[in-house]
Amino acid sequence: MATTKLTLPWKVRLSIFVLSALSDASRRSNGTFNRRIFNLVDRKAPPNPNVVNGVYSSDVTVDPSRNLWFRLFIPSISSAVSAASLPVFVYFHGGAFTFFNAASIPIDAFCRLFCRSLNAVVVSVDYRLTPEHRYPSQYDDGHDVLKFLDQNSTVLPSIADVSKCFLAGDSAGANLAHHVAVRVCEDKLRTVKIIGLVSVQPYFGGEERTGSELRLNRVPVLSLKMTDWHWKVFLPNGSDRDHGAANVSGPNTVDISGLDYPNTIVFLGGLDLLRDWQMKYYEWLRKSGKGAELVDYPNAFHGFYLFPELPLARLFFSRLKEFVTKQISNMN
Ligand SMILES: *[C@@H]1O[C@H](CO)[C@@H](O)[C@H](O)[C@H]1NC(C)=O
Ligand SMILES: *[C@@H]1O[C@H](CO)[C@@H](O)[C@H](O)[C@H]1NC(C)=O
Ligand SMILES: *[C@@H]1O[C@H](CO)[C@@H](O)[C@H](O)[C@H]1NC(C)=O
Ligand SMILES: *[C@@H]1O[C@H](CO)[C@@H](O)[C@H](O)[C@H]1NC(C)=O
Repeated sequence: MATTKLTLPWKVRLSIFVLSALSDASRRSNGTFNRRIFNLVDRKAPPNPNVVNGVYSSDVTVDPSRNLWFRLFIPSISSAVSAASLPVFVYFHGGAFTFFNAASIPIDAFCRLFCRSLNAVVVSVDYRLTPEHRYPSQYDDGHDVLKFLDQNSTVLPSIADVSKCFLAGDSAGANLAHHVAVRVCEDKLRTVKIIGLVSVQPYFGGEERTGSELRLNRVPVLSLKMTDWHWKVFLPNGSDRDHGAANVSGPNTVDISGLDYPNTIVFLGGLDLLRDWQMKYYEWLRKSGKGAELVDYPNAFHGFYLFPELPLARLFFSRLKEFVTKQISNMN
């Protein structure tokens, strides 16, 4: 059996410890979540119209009746670039569909890094959360933001090119990106064109216990107790984890082989208990005839990319940049 000893800087270990302790304390056995406790650690940042490290941001409302909005991150590039030329990333944050929002400090910081490293406009979607809102609220919100951008692309800066659009997400956000991609394939969007999908340690599951779930159950930041709870409050009442939203590669899912599904890059970590499900997703994309690349970091735990101080985070962004450049050059 592989040894799964994780060596991390103390600050990263401490953040993981505090986050895990407060998330454990916030989950109630009756299926509700104590936001008051979790918000002690989930601090928020306002948008910032001033350029900081080459990036500025603003918030855009999509539907006030359900408080659907996104945070827009724009790189402050030289005035030499005037035409619409930058790719647009529609990004869905992680957090088991329950934690964080687009203003959470680690999410905001990750999007800034994303914007700067890829020289891209980032649309970070603030979708509704569980347990207050179950499936398919999150997919509806993600889908509606795409439709909004298709009709209202003038809310984006003129340097944004929505015909070079990527869907991106990590963990639950990558689950969301997948399901939104499937829906968008069936739409007739006029201006938005999805040319790639970035799936970072996607949150998929099923009833069966996989080898990695059994082997890595005690490695931070996930546990089966935790993922089971979050699936239960997300999926429709009475459904099990073989529902197509979770078990995407199983028989309850949408057949994507006939769809114009975007080329996808899937990032996996050796210390992530979800890795076997993620691998099944990648293999299923290939079997369905889709373009898919796999990047497997043996020492990565679930959520490593949220810690820019880890050397792996830098590697991650340069690999991502390679993928993005390739998709853009394939267009021409
Ligand atoms: C769940 O438990 C909490 C705390 O024990 C309680 O305040 C809340 O009303 C309960 N909610 C439901 C729907 O049972
Ligand atoms: C585009 O924006 C207008 C004005 O804010 C709004 O009425 C319309 O619903 C938006 N389109 C979509 C698809 O959300
Ligand atoms: C789920 O369904 C059961 C029985 O079908 C019902 O008793 C329960 O109240 C439902 N829970 C919710 C949250 O709707
Ligand atoms: C769940 O996924 C596994 C592995 O991909 C598959 O063998 C199983 O049939 C699936 N179950 C359902 C009901 O989708």
